[in-house]
Amino acid sequence: MKKIAVYTSGGDAPGMNSCIRAIVRGAAYHGVEVYGIVRGYNGMINGDIIPLNSQSVSNIIQRGGTILKSARSKEFLTTEGRKKAYDQLQAKGIEGLVAIGGNGTFTGAEIFYNEFKIPCVGAPGTIDNDLYGTDYTIGYDTAVNTALDAIDKIRDTADSHDRVFFIEVMGRDSGYIAIQCAIAGGAEAVMIPENLTPVSEVMETLLKGFSKAKSSSIVIVAEGDEEGNAQKVAQKIKDQMKIELDIRVTTLGHIQRGGVPTAADRILASRLGLGALEGLLRGEKNVMAGVVNNQLVYTPFHDTITKKKPVSEDLIRMVEILST
Ligand code: F6P
Repeated sequence: MKKIAVYTSGGDAPGMNSCIRAIVRGAAYHGVEVYGIVRGYNGMINGDIIPLNSQSVSNIIQRGGTILKSARSKEFLTTEGRKKAYDQLQAKGIEGLVAIGGNGTFTGAEIFYNEFKIPCVGAPGTIDNDLYGTDYTIGYDTAVNTALDAIDKIRDTADSHDRVFFIEVMGRDSGYIAIQCAIAGGAEAVMIPENLTPVSEVMETLLKGFSKAKSSSIVIVAEGDEEGNAQKVAQKIKDQMKIELDIRVTTLGHIQRGGVPTAADRILASRLGLGALEGLLRGEKNVMAGVVNNQLVYTPFHDTITKKKPVSEDLIRMVEILST
């Protein structure tokens, strides 16, 4: 394989640039020509494909976002869109792909491989950490630390005013960010999609806290929780609580997706980027590189997108015990 291309797709994540750098530098080391596809699958369809070299990725290891930009492509979901993308890659003589992204990215990559047989290896880049086949995804650690910084600040004001805060963190289908933030931020309760915590149970926890003279309470809510987002949960509690509570809601939103990647994310991204590239050059295809128990492993795209990575019961139990 002499010519490959790399792209970032779906929600961006801090560390994606570190990953691109590792792929480009690794390709240069192995004497392979490397291109960057701009704006993920949209760029593949439109032929927005640029040459990259070692210098193109200087001074990006520490930058948030992605120099290749990202998109969620509707056109790639169609057969015609994917055929256009294939023609563009053929025209450039690209023989292999490295995809950096999450669930949606690898769903597209699997369909594309099945249709056109261009080998593709993935590197998991998503703040959600919801991919089977890797213990951690690129961007997760930074997102948790960004959210935690905000949660610590909210705790100060919550405490001064004896308030209850419902803080919403990202995670459409996943409670990974929420559970880490709850433990590290000393939250009173956490609500995640993987484990239904009824509003009644949260009310009980809050009341228990008040009976022990707790002055502030923080409930972390993952955006995809079954009881609703933080706004909805707070409203339900306001409506059902017999006593008057001073409640506020904060949605942290996209600040969790930006910022300087942590050391852990830069190192993980470098390892997974190089791992994905070298896997591709050795003949791996239709798989995602991941780190499981500190070992580099390759998992079929099909498993990464269909199998669930459960949040550890131990962690959920820990929030309950440590908040009492
Ligand atoms: O997948 C990453 C993620 O940040 C989710 O946690 C969130 O639900 C979603 O992306 C938001 O997507 P968008 O930026 O398209 O609104």
